[in-house]
Amino acid sequence: MEFIPFNRNHLEQVLRIADKTLGINYLTVAYLNQYLNSNTFLAFVVTENSAVVGFTALIIISPAQLKEQVLKDKDWFYQLSKKYSNIGFRKQTFVHPKFINKGYGSLLVKRSSEFIETFCDFQLSTVWIKQSNSAMGNLLLKNGFERSKTISNYWQQDSLVNKYSCTECGAPPCTCSTEVYIKKKCISVN
Ligand SMILES: CC(C)(COP(=O)(O)OP(=O)(O)OC[C@H]1O[C@@H](n2cnc3c(N)ncnc32)[C@H](O)[C@@H]1OP(=O)(O)O)[C@@H](O)C(=O)NCCC(=O)NCCS
Repeated sequence: MEFIPFNRNHLEQVLRIADKTLGINYLTVAYLNQYLNSNTFLAFVVTENSAVVGFTALIIISPAQLKEQVLKDKDWFYQLSKKYSNIGFRKQTFVHPKFINKGYGSLLVKRSSEFIETFCDFQLSTVWIKQSNSAMGNLLLKNGFERSKTISNYWQQDSLVNKYSCTECGAPPCTCSTEVYIKKKCISVN
């Protein structure tokens, strides 16, 4: 098992796994291209025998940029984050369905969170709430995150505009909720 930065050779495999786990067309080539050779769009994969089995993506942004990125309750997100300068906003995390529950998700979250903590004072994740799998929230709790707020119909408008199908609710609109998880960096004073 290897945890490595995402690169161009992983792109097709990541898209195929995303279609299966997040829904058809949720991720696109244009979206993933942003994560190639960037200091602010950071993505990692876990591989087995050079084949991608899992992916996670994060962006480093300011409170004002966070407000633009989130899909609902924009002012609430801004108020939550405004005293921090560098926010690590976790975007997608997924593991190939054949490989779930074997520790790959834990590795992706732990290693990427440790990495991003070296230059971000606040981390945030909008977790997709679904009946079939509550692993992501548990993973974040184990990595020092706390649950902050639930937002209903988080992807509703976005799914209509961008025409993606959700694996939980099918053709748009998506009616899934999100739970916001946050982690503040502890600064030791001595
Ligand atoms: C969420 C996801 C990335 C977790 O990856 P994973 O490789 O299965 O995670 P792990 O094997 O490291 O398991 C993490 C923990 O969750 C638990 N877990 C695994 N599957 C679970 C499930 N269906 N429901 C609840 N807990 C579960 C594991 O037991 C493990 O707990 P432990 O460390 O106490 O043993 C993966 O399930 C996935 O890709 N889901 C589909 C996409 C998705 O929902 N992504 C998150 C969007 S916010």
